[in-house]
Amino acid sequence: MSREVVAVIGGTGQLGAAIARRLAIAGWTVRIGSRSSESAQAAAKSLPGDVTGHENLEAATGSGIVLLTVPFAAQAQTLRDILPALVGQILVDTTVPLVPPKVARVQLPPEGSAAERARHIVGERARLVSAFHNVAAHKLASDEEIACDVLVFGDEADAREKVIALVEAMGLRGLHGGALANSAAAEALTSVLIFLNKAYKIDGAGIRITGTPAADG
Ligand SMILES: NC(=O)c1ccc[n+]([C@@H]2O[C@H](COP(=O)([O-])OP(=O)(O)OC[C@H]3O[C@@H](n4cnc5c(N)ncnc54)[C@H](OP(=O)(O)O)[C@@H]3O)[C@@H](O)[C@H]2O)c1
Repeated sequence: MSREVVAVIGGTGQLGAAIARRLAIAGWTVRIGSRSSESAQAAAKSLPGDVTGHENLEAATGSGIVLLTVPFAAQAQTLRDILPALVGQILVDTTVPLVPPKVARVQLPPEGSAAERARHIVGERARLVSAFHNVAAHKLASDEEIACDVLVFGDEADAREKVIALVEAMGLRGLHGGALANSAAAEALTSVLIFLNKAYKIDGAGIRITGTPAADG
């Protein structure tokens, strides 16, 4: 696939910066988005490769793929802020609907999932995909190989395919997880992984889908 410009909205944070770094190392052009252009520029400077910093709306404008990497509490407002830039673009929502303090307990929103909540906000403007719910940001921020598959959800198979290519550029395995409605399963699983981390003192539990090519490697 051609390497499009990717915007990472909330790319100053844990997950967004880690994704931006891996994409930049893979040779992609990355725009970090933030509520503050100064913060975005500082984050971009700390990363290798072709990475620039912008306010969120500016970062999203003209980027072929827009990743949303902000906390659940900031999801709706941030989407509204970048709405004009989303027409026809692939929007990858990474939001897990964690509601502190009980983050190790599944608490899906009334819409069914954070991804479906995003659909209510963006409507049919963007080609909505959700992914990255189960991979720990601190693992992504390192160069180590990560024992976690990335399930990719969305109602358009070709949009999912593009996001799987992005996931694979980052050195991870991406798998089609089916319709956007299925995102609820991966979002809920994150609270289970957080529980497992605590219960078994695991440094970032992940998921592996077995029975698929190279699944057990
Ligand atoms: N961390 C993980 O391991 C992980 C793994 C899988 C999925 N996720 C999901 O990825 C998303 C981001 O997680 P994270 O840990 O990277 O979050 P984070 O570091 O706490 O925040 C990411 C960015 O969101 C922006 N933000 C924070 N609070 C905001 C607010 N109230 N209003 C608007 N923007 C705000 C900030 O950017 P600016 O201040 O620069 O605007 C911040 O740098 C979450 O939905 C999380 O569930 C995280």
